[in-house]
Amino acid sequence: MKVLVIGGGGREHALVWKLKQSPRVEKIWCAPGNGGIAADAECVAIDAGDVAGVVAFAEKNLPDLTVVGPELPLVNGIGDAFRERGWAIVGPSKQAAQLEGSKVFSKEFLQRHHIPTAKMYGAFGSAKQAYGALKNVKWPAVIKADGLCAGKGVLVAQDFGEARDFLERVMEKNELGAGGKRVLLEEGLEGDELSFIVVTDGSSYAPLVPTRDHKRVFDGNQGPNTGGMGAYSTDELLPEPLRKTIVSDIVEPTLKGLAADGIPYQGFLYIGLMLTGSGPKVLEFNCRLGDPETQAIVARMNFDLAEVLQDVAAGRLDALKLRWKPGVSACLVLASGGYPGRFETGKKIEGLTGAEQITGVKVLHAGTKRVDDEILTSGGRVLGVTAIGPTLGAALGSAYAVAENIRFEHMHYRRDIGRHASTLKASGN
Ligand code: AMP
Ligand code: GLY
Repeated sequence: MKVLVIGGGGREHALVWKLKQSPRVEKIWCAPGNGGIAADAECVAIDAGDVAGVVAFAEKNLPDLTVVGPELPLVNGIGDAFRERGWAIVGPSKQAAQLEGSKVFSKEFLQRHHIPTAKMYGAFGSAKQAYGALKNVKWPAVIKADGLCAGKGVLVAQDFGEARDFLERVMEKNELGAGGKRVLLEEGLEGDELSFIVVTDGSSYAPLVPTRDHKRVFDGNQGPNTGGMGAYSTDELLPEPLRKTIVSDIVEPTLKGLAADGIPYQGFLYIGLMLTGSGPKVLEFNCRLGDPETQAIVARMNFDLAEVLQDVAAGRLDALKLRWKPGVSACLVLASGGYPGRFETGKKIEGLTGAEQITGVKVLHAGTKRVDDEILTSGGRVLGVTAIGPTLGAALGSAYAVAENIRFEHMHYRRDIGRHASTLKASGN
């Protein structure tokens, strides 16, 4: 099999790393890839969001399977473009990707199908209307830019002042671009978060192992939201009664709702949940795998990912093929100084050689590029040190031991991955 992976972050490095282990796979391209992926696949210089560019590449190189990492190509219609041509791809259609591409679409979907979610105060296309609505909400309240904003479109506002400042930046100064033309205002929920991701071929589905992300930049869940500073996976995140509730009240109504609305869905569906005192509630849908959740999920895969994804694309998913390693996996993100705000790039990364000598550790690259014999930083999230172990302490111990030997100027990472599961409430998230 020849496989094309779209994207260039830690999630895509994890996918490439696992696909490469399959005896079925003879060749992997990655568009655009990164400095670490370059060691495992042939990187091609096409932007992930450039659907026409990817189609032209596929026309020439004929991949047997294409796997889409990020949301942008999906929202831009790559799934439709490939399926129209009869090419095998894993990823939903443009219409289905609206579950992530529009927060208003997704909220209306949740309400229409009676799926538990935060109460919506309203959706507003003008700053004036939105300011008016702030008078009648309970704090904390959550403001969400409707469109894609690269992880910057959500604010959990503690009071009117914070909410007003965010609305001004998003709706009046257009700091987030077109994604902020319309906003959704909803109730703030409290609890621990859980990322529940399923893969579906359009009729059957299989859940992946549960993960927990760490969205805030600083220890103790402080500071602004990021794309994710670390994640871990253990079956203990999902006791059986909770699993049953999530499946019966959320996953199945979601898949049935999509079918009832005439929106076929094939690919990964990421359900971001808040485990509240009154049960799990949907915070968001993503039309793709999470990053860094994927790194933790891939580390626990005990099956041939290429085979399963080929089955998904062909509409013959067999959930029994998804077998998982017991124990715990963890991914620790090493980020550039300043991230999630402005950061510098081009810093030399040291300590990578020999970093994986600890058993069960893999250093996955995100914002890196190879220049001659050096690996330089090129993004906000730079590396994801991913480890597996019999316990959370063991997995984290290995990941932190390796992280301590890696250096680049102004590097920072959280010291408390997996250790603050119950502090979201204290931080007002
Ligand atoms: P979203 O992009 O909708 O997932 O939002 C990003 C993050 O904002 C989530 O992972 C949560 O940490 C937080 N968040 C979103 N919606 C809410 C809510 N209704 N209540 C509390 N936190 C939220
Ligand atoms: N880590 C959260 C996301 O991928 O959206």
